[in-house]
Amino acid sequence: MGTRPIRDFRSDTVTVAGPAMREAMAAAPVGDDVYDEDPTVNRLQDRVAELAGKEAALFLTSGTQSNLSAVLSHCGRGDEFIIGRDYHILLNEAAGAAALGGASPWPIDCGADGAISPDNIRAAVREPDIHHPVSRLLCLENTVNGFVQPVDRIAKLAATGHDCGLAVHLDGARLFNAAVACGVGIGAFLDDVDTVSLCLSKGLGAPVGTVLAGDRATIARAHRARKILGGGLRQAGHLAAAGLYALDHHVDRLSEDHARAERLANGLRAIGALSLEQGSNMVWVTPPAEHHDDLVAHLEANGLLAIFWKPTMRFVTHHDIDDADVDELVAAFVGFFDAR
Ligand SMILES: Cc1ncc(COP(=O)(O)O)c(C=O)c1O
Repeated sequence: MGTRPIRDFRSDTVTVAGPAMREAMAAAPVGDDVYDEDPTVNRLQDRVAELAGKEAALFLTSGTQSNLSAVLSHCGRGDEFIIGRDYHILLNEAAGAAALGGASPWPIDCGADGAISPDNIRAAVREPDIHHPVSRLLCLENTVNGFVQPVDRIAKLAATGHDCGLAVHLDGARLFNAAVACGVGIGAFLDDVDTVSLCLSKGLGAPVGTVLAGDRATIARAHRARKILGGGLRQAGHLAAAGLYALDHHVDRLSEDHARAERLANGLRAIGALSLEQGSNMVWVTPPAEHHDDLVAHLEANGLLAIFWKPTMRFVTHHDIDDADVDELVAAFVGFFDAR
């Protein structure tokens, strides 16, 4: 690594709480949340339930714990959940539902933009038969790898799930990004969704926390699942306060992240040698294979971090990235390809 300051485009999870958020955390009134007595946690849960248009909500440690608690609330052992092949619960949550809940995923195809189709959902639902798992749940996601799933698409998929007798869970780790991109509130996506998981520690910039919202009975089951998973916290209001601060101050500004991702994509497109895609706050770049390793070394030497998967690398804009950081990154790419 060179001596220049690091500009970290790996993920929107790398943000660090600023002074005002830290002040709100320190000042939060707290109590024992395992006894449901933390006023700040309760305020956050009520606030998110209202935003989502749901009866109840539950504060959890992470998106993974929230998604798993949701799946465990909808599915029992031997049940199956239908899910897009590229979705996070399937690929990146350590098979928690199968490992801990005996519920198995049934992956269905996903377009490059993250879309799944109603026909594929219908085709994936099992006929009742003692040989088969029981199809119980449809898992949706928004955004998918940064790609916004429009309101009408989510509504159609959720309605299809319900027509097929499935419950519907939405992994909305970045649903606020989708909402801001579509110019709607998050509730617009959720009329026909049973449970939604909303992360506070991604684009919203809180240090920790996710909120799961749904009807009272399902959230009560998720509360029990959270306890089983060791997720009962005590004076968690200090953490919830960061979430409340983020909801007050960091939602509308997500449009700045999206504009910066577009600025980055436009800057890189001008280079010509790259294949790239952009959705909300993510830019996916595939350089010519012969240049991949040298390009990574060049970017790292300039203090520019991304997730350098091969063949496609991922750049994410967030609260701690400004226009100058984006311009530095574009300039580093231009410098690299000019020298070839
Ligand atoms: C779409 C999506 N869902 C869920 C998660 C899990 O969140 P966490 O890392 O808080 O467990 C992530 C994490 O990056 C994610 O991108």
